[in-house]
Amino acid sequence: MTMTRTDAAIDVERIRSAFPALAGPMAFMENAGGSQVPRVVADAIRDFMLREYVQLGAPYELSSQATQTVADAHEFINRFMNGEDRGTVILGPSCTSLSMMLADCYARALPGDAEIIVMESGHEANVGPWDRLADRGFTVKIWTCDPQTGQSHLDDLKALLSEKTAIVACVHVSNLLGDIEDVPAITALAHEVGARVVVDGVAYAPHRAIDVAAWDVDWYIYSTYKVYGPHMAALFGKHDAIDELTGPHHFFIPKQEIPYKFEANGVSYEGCAGLLALQDYLRFVIGDTGAGPIDRSGIEGAFDILTNLEMQTQGRLVAYLQSRNDIRIIGPTHAEESRVSTISFVHTSKSSREIAESVCRHGIGIRHGHMYAYRLCERLGLAAGDGVVRVSLVHYNSPGEVDRLIAALDDTLDSDRSDVQESR
Ligand SMILES: Cc1ncc(COP(=O)(O)O)c(C=O)c1O
Repeated sequence: MTMTRTDAAIDVERIRSAFPALAGPMAFMENAGGSQVPRVVADAIRDFMLREYVQLGAPYELSSQATQTVADAHEFINRFMNGEDRGTVILGPSCTSLSMMLADCYARALPGDAEIIVMESGHEANVGPWDRLADRGFTVKIWTCDPQTGQSHLDDLKALLSEKTAIVACVHVSNLLGDIEDVPAITALAHEVGARVVVDGVAYAPHRAIDVAAWDVDWYIYSTYKVYGPHMAALFGKHDAIDELTGPHHFFIPKQEIPYKFEANGVSYEGCAGLLALQDYLRFVIGDTGAGPIDRSGIEGAFDILTNLEMQTQGRLVAYLQSRNDIRIIGPTHAEESRVSTISFVHTSKSSREIAESVCRHGIGIRHGHMYAYRLCERLGLAAGDGVVRVSLVHYNSPGEVDRLIAALDDTLDSDRSDVQESR
């Protein structure tokens, strides 16, 4: 791992000072649901709305500026995903809507005998839209996961692939399990039979640098509102994959007008200003006082620091959960870089609901449920309604906050259970 950090840059209190919401009493540990934003991002959105909030493409100066902001945001996010030399970024309101849009485009382009493989352990956003193509006559095969661990095995994928496979839709990190899937291996297998790979990177992107070039993926989606930005989502598509499709926008908008042809859902202009400002935050993380576009090594250097910070709190929480004999971690049971700090668990007797509600009363934001990984919960034999307790940490969570969580969990779990206390 390349470490470009300075000692000042890895100080979590310095990092936290960039996020106004973190100055309050609440400990945000539901980051897999949505992250907080640095002040620079919020300021950029406000400034855009107060000074530049006009429509694009009109022949006046302010409109040209707004047009440039939106174009620059596409360009930055493409660099953020390391897709600059190989594809284009399409922006939209959410991963779910972009995934639905893409599935619909493929349904109009694929031959009738095409087969689609869908990874069962994913979030429904990148499962349902593909699974539903069965209603339009396509063969959909489900890549099921292990009922004990939730893991998806490459051998099972191999058994499903055929020369008719057109799409493999998978998740990079399960938003419930937290382990990082081997996307390069999945992609290589899919490409052997000429299939396109559509990766849901929503639960990966807040934690590690996206690198669509290294992984050679055809499509990669993530939600920008979980990566310290505005409520939007981005879909990277390789040039040749995009060229195979016709976007959903009006008939008079030419097929070649990319990404606009795929942006019928609308792009938030002020959101684009916020996305661009994320560059300033990443520069702050690496201790770079410059301005303007951040280059790829700056992005990777910043994410090295984010990972390093995250590993400090991940170890603390996993060690605590492992020390309790009344808790079962759902997903990898060790702190390691091959997992992110999205950590789910169930209790031997208490419901996930009562644990989450009790912890929230301590001023700590977590949640319980199936997290839209509904099929995974069912496969694991968990009642989808109650699901798991999920704690999702990112780089700005401090060791002190994790200690507060541990105290809240002790209070919750041991309150009426002297047997548990005795056994510890
Ligand atoms: C792994 C994963 N994929 C997809 C989504 C859906 O994202 P969006 O809210 O942008 O539709 C989520 C949301 O939690 C997620 O965690």
